Amino acid sequence: MLQAIPRASVRIVGLLQLALLAGLLASVPVARAASIAKANNVAEGRSAFHANCAPCHGLSARGGARGPDLTAGNWAHGGSDTQISHTITHGVAGTEMPANAFDDAEVRAIIAYLRSLSPPANPLVGGDPIRGQQMFVGSAGCVNCHMVDGHGGHLGPDLSRVGTARAVPYLIDSIREPDKELTGGAPDPNNHYGLPLPYDTVTVTTTAGERLVGVARNEDTFSIQLLAVDQSLHCLLKSETREVIHERRSLMPAYPVSALGTPQLLDLVAYLVSLGRDRAVAVGQSR
Ligand code: HEC
Ligand code: HEC
Repeated sequence: MLQAIPRASVRIVGLLQLALLAGLLASVPVARAASIAKANNVAEGRSAFHANCAPCHGLSARGGARGPDLTAGNWAHGGSDTQISHTITHGVAGTEMPANAFDDAEVRAIIAYLRSLSPPANPLVGGDPIRGQQMFVGSAGCVNCHMVDGHGGHLGPDLSRVGTARAVPYLIDSIREPDKELTGGAPDPNNHYGLPLPYDTVTVTTTAGERLVGVARNEDTFSIQLLAVDQSLHCLLKSETREVIHERRSLMPAYPVSALGTPQLLDLVAYLVSLGRDRAVAVGQSR
C-alpha cells in the first residue's frame, strides 16, 4: 500500500510529462509549418511579382520610371489588403497600371511579398510642397513645358499624376539629369500598333534649309508633326525634309546643384509627389 502511492503519483507525473511532451511536440511543428507556409507564400508572391510587375515596379518593388515604389507605405490607392487587392485586380483606370487575372491565393501571395519588404532607408521628406509649387510655376520655369491639371506647356509630359506614377529617386534624376532616363514614349494616337513615340529631342532640317528643334508629336514613314521649342506645331512631309534626327537626349535643361539647391529640389519633389494623390483619394472615396 505504502509503495502504491508513490508509484501512482510517479505514473501521474509520468502522464503529465507525456502530455506536456506531446503538447510541445505538437505545437513545435504547427508553428514551424505556419512559418514555412508564410515563407512559401512570400516566395510565391515574389516570383509572381518578378514575372508580372517588375518591368514597371522594379525587381525589389522600389519603382522607377514606369511605376511607383510599393515599399514606401504611402499608398495612393489605399494600403489595406482589400484595397491593394482591388488595385492589383482592377488596375488603375487611365494609367499604365494594368488589370490582372490572378486568383485570390496569388493576389494574397503578392501582398504577402510586398508586406515582407522593408521601406526605403531614407524616405525623402522635409520638402514643402507649397514652396515647390511656387517654384514650379515661377522661378524654376517648369510650367513653361509641363502641364499640371490643364495649365502649362506641351513640350514635356503632363505631370498631373507624376507623384503616384513614379518613384522619388527617378523624380530627382529627372530634374538633375534629364538625359539619364528619358520618359517612356507616349503611344502614337494615330498608330495604335506602332512603337511608342520616344520623348526625345528631334532636329528636323527642311529641304529649304530651315532647322527646327522640338519633340515629335506624331511620326510615321511619310510625315512628322514637330512641336518646336517655341511651342509652334509644324506638320511636315518627310519629302520636304532633308533629315530628321532623334537625338536620344532630353529637351529639358538639367538643373544641377548650382542652379537648384538641395532644399529647393526637395520642395519641388515634395510638390511632384503630391501630384495625383488628391485625385486618387477622391476616386477611392467614390468607390
Ligand atoms: C505597365 C506598368 C505596370 C505594371 C506591369 C504593373 N504596374 Fe502597378 N502601377 C503602375 C503605375 C504607373 C501605377 C500608378 C498608377 C497611378 O498613377 O495612380 C501603379 C500602381 C500600383 C499600385 C498602387 C500603389 C499605390 O500607391 O496605391 C499597386 C498596389 C500596384 N501598382 C501593384 C502592381 C502589381 C502587384 C503588379 C503586378 C501584378 C503591377 N502593379 C504591375 C504600373 C504598372
Ligand atoms: C524646356 C522644357 C522643359 C522644362 C523647362 C522642364 N522640363 Fe521636365 N521634361 C521636359 C521634357 C521634354 C521631358 C521628357 C524627356 C525626359 O525624360 O527628360 C521632361 C521630363 C520631366 C520629368 C519626367 C516625367 C515622367 O513622367 O517620366 C519630370 C519629373 C520633369 N520633367 C520635371 C520637371 C521640373 C520639376 C521642371 C522644373 C524644375 C522641369 N521639368 C522643367 C521638358 C522640360
